[in-house]
Amino acid sequence: MPKKVYIRTFGCQMNVRDSEIILGMLKKRGYTQVESPDRADVVLFNTCSVRKHAEDRVWSNIGVLRELKANNKPIIGIVGCMAQNYQDEVFRRFPYIDFVCGPANIYGIPDLVKKAGKEKTQLLAVNRVKRPLLCDGNSRKNKLKAFVSIMYGCNNFCSYCIVPYVRGRQLSRPLRHIIDEVKDLAGRGCPEITLLGQNVNSYGQDLKGKTGFVGLLEKLNRIEGIERIRFMTSHPKDASKKLFCAMRDLSKVCKHLHLPLQSGSDKILSLMNRGYTFRDYSGLIECLRKIIPDCNITSDIIVGFPQESEADFQKTYQAMQKIRFDQAFIFKYSPRPKTKAARLEDDVPLKVKQRRNNALLKLQKITSTVLVMFCVLLLFNGHVFAGNEVFRNAEALILKDSYSQAARECEKILARNPRARIKAKAYYLLGICLLKEGKFDQAKKNFNELLRRYPGSKFCDEAKAALSRSSFSVQVGCFAKEANARRLRDELINLGFGAYILKLKGESLYRVRVGKFAGRQDAQSLEQRLKTRGYPTKICQ
Ligand code: 5AD
Ligand code: SF4
Repeated sequence: MPKKVYIRTFGCQMNVRDSEIILGMLKKRGYTQVESPDRADVVLFNTCSVRKHAEDRVWSNIGVLRELKANNKPIIGIVGCMAQNYQDEVFRRFPYIDFVCGPANIYGIPDLVKKAGKEKTQLLAVNRVKRPLLCDGNSRKNKLKAFVSIMYGCNNFCSYCIVPYVRGRQLSRPLRHIIDEVKDLAGRGCPEITLLGQNVNSYGQDLKGKTGFVGLLEKLNRIEGIERIRFMTSHPKDASKKLFCAMRDLSKVCKHLHLPLQSGSDKILSLMNRGYTFRDYSGLIECLRKIIPDCNITSDIIVGFPQESEADFQKTYQAMQKIRFDQAFIFKYSPRPKTKAARLEDDVPLKVKQRRNNALLKLQKITSTVLVMFCVLLLFNGHVFAGNEVFRNAEALILKDSYSQAARECEKILARNPRARIKAKAYYLLGICLLKEGKFDQAKKNFNELLRRYPGSKFCDEAKAALSRSSFSVQVGCFAKEANARRLRDELINLGFGAYILKLKGESLYRVRVGKFAGRQDAQSLEQRLKTRGYPTKICQ
């Protein structure tokens, strides 16, 4: 009978990835994964220490295992950040735990399990400061999206944060390991990767090579089979214009930046040892939005940090109003052992933390709703836009009748190679803009692309209707000689008009027309533009 392992993961994506690695090692030794601890021979909790609340959840869940141990006697291991934080105190609190293993020791887990089964003694594995740099085999559950750790630990020492004490100092994985892992994923048909690190922007600073984070992105962008690259988390003190340009220019890198602000008050930012002011931060955001106007920006905020006055909190509130994050995660400050902030008095009462937390949650909800509403409420030709952040600019330009600019925005979106749903909408909007510009043939090409590539898309019917409704056009000339008609057509095309030649059946005349529109009004506005250039015009139906 193969042995069974149950693993429960608390905390962040780093832990999710570590759990995958642990499972991969155990599966290699014949274990199968089960979804309930009752049926398991080995029960593992991969734990998180980021806030006390997270730890309390784990403690109470470990308590529940007492009965299980009495009945089934599985081997129980506590792994991850809490293991490192509490070490043998875990045994004191819960004498039935078999082993405690820190994040840097996880590669020893198969041996720990084996030993715990034989020796019946409690085993403590928290001695490693650095984890060995191994090529982590493929052991992922999700075959279409993969987490790839690019570095471990952190050197920033934000005064509230326990990470450097439980996950150690920054340790970048060798470039070759990451590239090989991503190539292997691509070979297995995985199109999307998320690069993980506490501060991905400082990737490589501790390595001998010259490749930093942007260089890594460039290399990964070239790997065939990979379609989307995401990353998290970025620290504002290391995020730069160079990164934003790379995000814009590398077609596979998703336009999303998670950039924790933590507080809008410079006093609090300094107490947090963040290394930037709010002005620095908003300058970065301004720069990012100039380079990638539709970039998704998300953030983390802590309320109730020691000495946070009402005025400091208001600064955070105003900062969020100003920046309008697409999403923000709000946390109540929680003192963590060993951290510098833990030496400060936790002087903001829980009630006040709660009130501030609620106020920011409410603000964020309004901001997110407004952002979505903005897109949803844009009406165009009776069609309601389905709110996608990436189309914010294009849709605003359409509302202002700036179709050529809107078309350029849509082309940019298509060039970034986004998800199918976004692409379908981009083809549709581009077609509409081109129609409005009188470029019927180009519009038709985009609509046909939409119909061919995404036949199930909700935009297909709209596109077909737009094509079939297009019966108004502007006639600019009518010639007996085809060569003359061609000359005028080419002249108009050179000026940016969508001109074409129409020869009706049984007639010997060559008509030069521009555009095909669903309504007379659109044809009239094109007629006006042609008239101002001195062309004789006539609207035809
Ligand atoms: N108290 C509250 N929030 C914290 N975070 C990290 N440490 C603490 C703490 N001691 C939050 C930060 C970080 C996110 C992952 O968790 O906002 O960005
Ligand atoms: Fe992740 Fe930090 Fe929690 Fe550790 S303490 S699991 S690094 S969030």
